[in-house]
Parts: sequence; C-alpha cells; structure tokens
Amino acid sequence: MTSPKARRPIVAANWKMNTGPDDGARLARAVAAEDLPLAQVEVVLCPPATGLTSVAEAVADSPIAVGAQHVYWESSGAFTGEISVPMLTGLAAYAITGHSERRQLFGETDLDVQRKTLAILAGGLTPIVAVGESLDQRDAGETLAVLRTQITAVLEALSPEQTAASVIAYEPVWAIGTGRNASPEQAQEAIGWIRDTVSAAHGCPAAGRVRIQYGGSVSPDNCDELLSRDGIDGALVGGASLDAAQFAAIVRAAAP
Ligand code: 13P
Repeated sequence: MTSPKARRPIVAANWKMNTGPDDGARLARAVAAEDLPLAQVEVVLCPPATGLTSVAEAVADSPIAVGAQHVYWESSGAFTGEISVPMLTGLAAYAITGHSERRQLFGETDLDVQRKTLAILAGGLTPIVAVGESLDQRDAGETLAVLRTQITAVLEALSPEQTAASVIAYEPVWAIGTGRNASPEQAQEAIGWIRDTVSAAHGCPAAGRVRIQYGGSVSPDNCDELLSRDGIDGALVGGASLDAAQFAAIVRAAAP
C-alpha cells in the first residue's frame, strides 16, 4: 500500500448555514491572506450555495479551491430548491455528500449519498463523502459495522479509479459541534477500518490513494495531535473554519 506521505493532505472548511455572499467573500479573502502551506496542503472552502460565486471570485487568484455543501443527482428539471452538479461549473471543484446533518435532519439515505457521489464524479468534481457513527452506535460497539455499511453503499457503485480520486471524511456524529473531538487513537482506528473497507472493495492501490480526513470539533488546540497521525489525511472543519486565523492554524498543522 502507498505510504501515507504519498497522499497530499486536504483541509476543507464547511461553513454550514453561515455567511452570505459578502461576509463569505470577506472570510475567503482573510483565509487567502494567511500564510498557508498551499504547495503541500490542498485547501477547500465550502460556503452555502448563495456564497459560491463571491467566494470563487475571492480566491480566483489563489490555489484555494471551492466546494459545494450539497448537490442533487439529477442534472436539471423540476426539483425546487435543489442545485445540480452541472450548475456548479466554474464555481466549485468539490462537493460534500453524506454529511451527518443531511442524513439526520434531511433524511438523506445511503442510496442518496451513492447517487450524489456518482453525479459529482460524472460532473468532473471531487466528492468529499462523509461517514460516521452516532454515540449510541459507538457505545454499542457498532462503529465498524456502521462505517462499513455507509462506505460500501457508495463504493459498490464506484470504480477503483473513482474511489482513489475521491475524498472520504470520517466524522463521528458525537464529535460534530460538541467540542468533544475523537482522540487521535479513535480517529486513526476508524480511518484504518475505512481504508480496509476500501481495500476489500477495490484493492490496495485504491485504498492507498484515497484520502481520508477526520472531522468533528477540530480546533487549533487539537489539530497537531490529530493531523500528525499516519493515515489521517487532513480535516473537515466546521466551527473553527469560520475564523480565518483558526482555520489557517489547522491548515498549517496538516502540512507534512
Ligand atoms: P465542527 O468542526 O463544528 O465540529 O463540525 C464538523 C463538521 O461537521 C464538518 O463538516
């Protein structure tokens, strides 16, 4: 299997339902003005849909990429409120699928996540596929089974090449927005299980290439110990990504 150092770390900011076009652009410019190791770490900003245009303009001269938080799998048509992958052309290079907030609050199923991931790949964008267990599931010893189910539902529709080109985010639900991050050991163990699942489905080369982030209460205080671990290829950051200096500290911690 490829050494972990062969994978370029990726740190993505998920601003969730925060910032409009103007303050999103301001935040993006503040991030771009930070001293970031952009040659070593891929950085992605995911504003809400209404901020995609202004944020894309704000980082147009920088290697910082833009991602969508949500897409629908159909290309166009009568789907009120939805945004398709072709509609993101020129605006975003990434799109998040499977975030636990969408699964829990908006009823997104594993099959929905699979369809969205396929649509994102078909449109030439990179999916960031989020998976993770709830606290009840962890306490019941079901973490591995839950991750396997969520990951397999997506992988079974993907080729090894598509898998290798994707990003997976391990986000335990109990760590999201709680200030209680997974320990580096817990994150590393779960990410190891995810990589094993990828390997079983698509072989070692794909498992060695796919990047797997950790997400859940990542902050400047815990990013060093999390992101220095082998196998943790970056972070998907919520709350701390709304502050340019805090987000920049996390990006710096991801540099090899
Ligand atoms: P927090 O960093 O606020 O815990 O959010 C994590 C997350 O859900 C990123 O997608």
